[in-house]
Amino acid sequence: MRAKVTVLGLGPMGAALAGAFVDAGHRTTVWNRSPGKAGDLTARGAAESASAAEAVAGGTLVVVCLATYEAVHEVLGPLAGALTGRTVVNLTSGSPPQAHTAAGWAESRAVDYLDGVIMATPAGIGDPDSLLLFSGPRAVFDRVRGTLTALGDPVHLGADTALSSVYDTALLGLMWGTLTGWLHGVALIGADGPGGRVTATAYTDVADRWMRTVRAFMRAYAPHVDSGDYPGGEFTLRLHAMTIDILAHASQLRGVSQALPELFRDLTGRAIADGHGDDSYARLVEYLRSDPA
Ligand SMILES: NC(=O)c1ccc[n+]([C@@H]2O[C@H](COP(=O)([O-])OP(=O)(O)OC[C@H]3O[C@@H](n4cnc5c(N)ncnc54)[C@H](OP(=O)(O)O)[C@@H]3O)[C@@H](O)[C@H]2O)c1
Repeated sequence: MRAKVTVLGLGPMGAALAGAFVDAGHRTTVWNRSPGKAGDLTARGAAESASAAEAVAGGTLVVVCLATYEAVHEVLGPLAGALTGRTVVNLTSGSPPQAHTAAGWAESRAVDYLDGVIMATPAGIGDPDSLLLFSGPRAVFDRVRGTLTALGDPVHLGADTALSSVYDTALLGLMWGTLTGWLHGVALIGADGPGGRVTATAYTDVADRWMRTVRAFMRAYAPHVDSGDYPGGEFTLRLHAMTIDILAHASQLRGVSQALPELFRDLTGRAIADGHGDDSYARLVEYLRSDPA
């Protein structure tokens, strides 16, 4: 089905979104505040509008991808009447309160609204494996889901419009945590010491395989968190703590930062001191939930 799609904002991400809609055969209208950003989109079949109002008139699905929510309100605010009866999908990054405010604004003007986040770079847009997360009314998502598959794999998280933003920050935290752990390993293994210097590439070949086990731990521990019951099995917090001490010592010997081992030590130490040494590592969620600092 060819849909009529309008894309507001032609930064690197907005342009990639518009290009994917064009490639999927949708009738695509684009607008950008500063002219001259449509690049080859018009040559590929997109229509460029001189104003946001004109662009909105060209689409039943209006995809917004601007730098900030302030910009979104600046652009959409004057268009409220023109948007009534259309569906706005906002792929601008923002905070949960910003998502709620935008959803409230849309609801009060009878505009169907979904908030979304893109877990990909512009180069990944159009790849069926690229993850795009959406929150808002299920019925609205179901109506536009087919069109959104032009961008990647659209996933509906729930009716609360803030969910996509919360997932975005949680998933980015997972990325930074994982990347920092990996870089700690790169520094440790690449430093002078027994075995000599190992390249990051050689280490990563092994680390990549280890990630499968890490993912299995996440899957196994999630039910512990959900139930509030943390059976330690054969890998208790006490055992984790002993191995963390070895990591701290090895890091010290090789002159590598103690920041991560200290963080692990602090969390496991507090849990063990509270009598949770026989529990699984998942118990630490309780210490992350209520940080006394
Ligand atoms: N790039 C990525 O890898 C990536 C990945 C995931 C999510 N995102 C999110 O996607 C959104 C867009 O990102 P981007 O990479 O395309 O570049 P960006 O620099 O974040 O956004 C540029 C776009 O915002 C427009 N804009 C800024 N202020 C405006 C205003 N007051 N009124 C109207 N338009 C305004 C710019 O218009 P002008 O050209 O006129 O300045 C341009 O179209 C952001 O929220 C970003 O966080 C980006």
